[in-house]
Amino acid sequence: MTAFAAGEPCLLYDAKGRTYLIRLEAGSEFQYHRGVVQHDDIIGRDQGCFVAASMGSKLVAVRPRLADYTIKMPRGAAVVYPKDTAAIVMWADICPGATVLEAGTGSGALTLALLRAVGGSGRVVSVERRADHGEVAIQRIEGFLGHIPDNLELRIGDVEDNFEDVAPDRVVLDMPEPWHSVRPAVRHLRPGGIFCSYLPTVPQVQELRRELAASGSFIEETTFEVLHREWTVEGRSVRPSHRMQGHTGFITVARRFTRPGSENGSE
Ligand SMILES: C[S@@+](CC[C@H](N)C(=O)[O-])C[C@H]1O[C@@H](n2cnc3c(N)ncnc32)[C@H](O)[C@@H]1O
Repeated sequence: MTAFAAGEPCLLYDAKGRTYLIRLEAGSEFQYHRGVVQHDDIIGRDQGCFVAASMGSKLVAVRPRLADYTIKMPRGAAVVYPKDTAAIVMWADICPGATVLEAGTGSGALTLALLRAVGGSGRVVSVERRADHGEVAIQRIEGFLGHIPDNLELRIGDVEDNFEDVAPDRVVLDMPEPWHSVRPAVRHLRPGGIFCSYLPTVPQVQELRRELAASGSFIEETTFEVLHREWTVEGRSVRPSHRMQGHTGFITVARRFTRPGSENGSE
């Protein structure tokens, strides 16, 4: 990996394990309760280096993982948390070369993970209904990658209107009413393709599952949640941490099949 350059994000760890996400800019400084750190003391150095703050404290500078960036980035819409992103990427089988239709783009956190998983040979088309959220997403994606990659297309509109020309291998929806996308998916999600939705409440899941079942076009429908419990490991105190994220969302995954007599994929 190359040395830190101006313009890229950097994560600073203090002696107590607290973290600070900054964007490196020549001539800028980062201020915190233990003093001031000059960005120029980081730019040009390799990640993992120690940097000194003006009051004598030391911090470690590293590139943020995508999970760090997701949790720490300023956001417009609520983001998908890393524990759920990991499960979505695995169970929606987001693989190199796949064409993914995503909505809503929101803050772009899930988009970044989808891009990583499809790789350079894949494509992500991410649709967002709200132009202001779309703007935030552009800033956050550029903030992590430095640019909008060629294999990402950001569209403003309703995802339901974007199935036909994309003809996706995977549909990944983090939005309140994904059931409106079931019929378009029956028509335009490639046979064998996967429909994945992330929803916060049980009634939403019920509505989606009803619509998926009624379409008669999906198999392997499953809904689950991911519980992630951190442990404290300090000397002899080795136990689950006192705090835990109680609830984020339910992940529903279903796989499209072609009904006999409709091998061309149409309803
Ligand atoms: C919870 S946010 C998505 C967050 C995003 N997954 C992330 O990780 O940053 C939900 C977004 O869906 C958008 N949305 C709602 N319905 C939509 C639709 N039918 N088509 C496109 N976007 C939609 C909302 O405007 C909102 O920005």
